Formats: sequence, structure tokens, C-alpha cells
Amino acid sequence: MLFLLLPLLTALFPGGDSEGGFEEPLSYYLIQTSSFHNHSWKHLGSGWLGKLETHRWNSSSGTIIFLYPWSRGNFSNNELMDLERFFHTYFINHQGFYISQLMFKDSFDLQVTLGCELHSGKAFVGFLQIAIQGFEFMSFQNETFLPSPKGGEKAQKACLLLNLSPAFKHTIHRLISDICPRFTLGLLDAGKTYLQRQAPHRSLGLILLAVIVALGLLTGLGFWLRKHW
Ligand SMILES: *[C@@H]1O[C@H](CO)[C@@H](O)[C@H](O)[C@H]1NC(C)=O
Ligand SMILES: *[C@@H]1O[C@H](CO)[C@@H](O)[C@H](O)[C@H]1NC(C)=O
Ligand SMILES: *[C@@H]1O[C@H](CO)[C@@H](O)[C@H](O)[C@H]1NC(C)=O
Ligand SMILES: *[C@@H]1O[C@H](CO)[C@@H](O)[C@H](O)[C@H]1NC(C)=O
Repeated sequence: MLFLLLPLLTALFPGGDSEGGFEEPLSYYLIQTSSFHNHSWKHLGSGWLGKLETHRWNSSSGTIIFLYPWSRGNFSNNELMDLERFFHTYFINHQGFYISQLMFKDSFDLQVTLGCELHSGKAFVGFLQIAIQGFEFMSFQNETFLPSPKGGEKAQKACLLLNLSPAFKHTIHRLISDICPRFTLGLLDAGKTYLQRQAPHRSLGLILLAVIVALGLLTGLGFWLRKHW
């Protein structure tokens, strides 16, 4: 499957991370921005295929908003409902975690980035990073939560507590290392017509650039010829 999609990947994400390209490698990730102010929470959640937003989280209904007809990728309704249930429970539980267990006081902002990224066009690498007030707080590596030095004692406590739960660690690991890569490839395949229609704009930009450079050279040559002849 990856083999079949590689030409598309190359067209959409030229350069990747291997040849010092300026484009980002192929990735799918979720961004959660939550703020706790005045004793109440506000949550925003979105899903991104590279730079394209494909999903949002409806926090009042606890459901996924699919921004494109192909945003379901190749996942069945059951698998998508399982994910919705997981995120719904997560959004409820993590509020208590930060307030009652870590004793965060009013008010703070939390950002969670979770997803997977294709490295060197070969294998997906999963990641999870959590920042508080814009500073790295903790991350998830090798199936373990790791406190960031900037996170202080609270980050150490958070990791200590989370690492006590093998089930939660296993779920996160599965999410970023198995579900995310499968979902990303399915999404890329389901959305390929749409994505291919977007890709030519980039080539058009390059052609335009080539034309401008050529015109510039010709103008320069014109001036040079007028001076020297
Ligand atoms: C905080 O909430 C209280 C009661 O809900 C309200 O009266 C007050 O205006 C709120 N303050 C701010 C800064 O939003
Ligand atoms: C989110 O869910 C609520 C409650 O079910 C619904 O009224 C609202 O239209 C939904 N918002 C979006 C953007 O789908
Ligand atoms: C990952 O964890 C396993 C088992 O806990 C350990 O043997 C391995 O060395 C770790 N790998 C890295 C890269 O930290
Ligand atoms: C979706 O497509 C991916 C990539 O081809 C594949 O690995 C996966 O098994 C497919 N189905 C599901 C339900 O993930």
C-alpha cells in the first residue's frame, strides 16, 4: 500500500525529511488546545493531514466532525465510534487529572499534539507532546511518559502517575504506532483525488518561478548587450 502511494506522496510532500527538502514529511496529528480559566474548561480539537485540517472535535457532543467526505479514510463506523468514545472519555478524565491530581490552579493553557510521521519514506514514528503555558511539559517515548526539564515537579508527578498504568500507556502506544499510520494511509488513499487537485498549485508556483527567473536573466542579458554593443 505504501508502495502504491509513494508517487502520490512524492507529489504532495516533495523533499520529505531525507534530502533537506523544505516541505514537512508526511504526517497526521491531532492538536488539542484546552484552557482552564475561571473554573471552567474550554477544549478545541483538530486533526491535520500535514498542513490540511481534515477533522475537528465537537466538545459539546463529544463527536468527531469530518471536514471532507473522505475524512473517514478507510475506517469503519465502528472503529471511528471506538475512537470517539476514547477521546470523549479522555477529555473528561484529563480535566480531573490536571486539577485534582496535579493541583493546577486557575488559570492555565494546555496543548497536546499527538500523531505519527513518516520518516525517510519508510516507517511511521508516533509522537505525543504536551505543553503547558507554551512550555514543554512531558512527552511519550518508547512507551513511557517522560517529564520535560521545564515541566518541574508537576511534570515528574504526572509521568509517575501515568506510567503506573500499563493499560493507558499501551492504548497511547497503539494509537500513535498502529491506528495513526493505518488511518493516515487510508485517508491519503480516500482523499487522493482532492489532494492531487491541490498539488498542481505547487508545481504551478515552481513553473512561475522558473519563468520569472528566466525573464530576469533575459532582462539582465538585454542590459548587458545594450552596454557592450
Ligand atoms: C468568572 O465567573 C463568574 C461566575 O460564573 C462570573 O461572575 C465572572 O464574571 C467570571 N469572570 C471572568 C473574568 O470571566
Ligand atoms: C456540535 O454538537 C452540538 C450538540 O449535538 C450540535 O448542536 C452542534 O451543531 C455541533 N456542532 C458542529 C459544528 O457540528
Ligand atoms: C525502550 O524500552 C525498552 C524496555 O523498557 C528498553 O529495553 C530499550 O532500551 C528502550 N529503548 C530506548 C531507545 O530507550
Ligand atoms: C486502511 O488502509 C491501510 C493502508 O492501506 C491499511 O493498512 C489498513 O489495514 C486499512 N484498513 C483499516 C481498517 O485500517
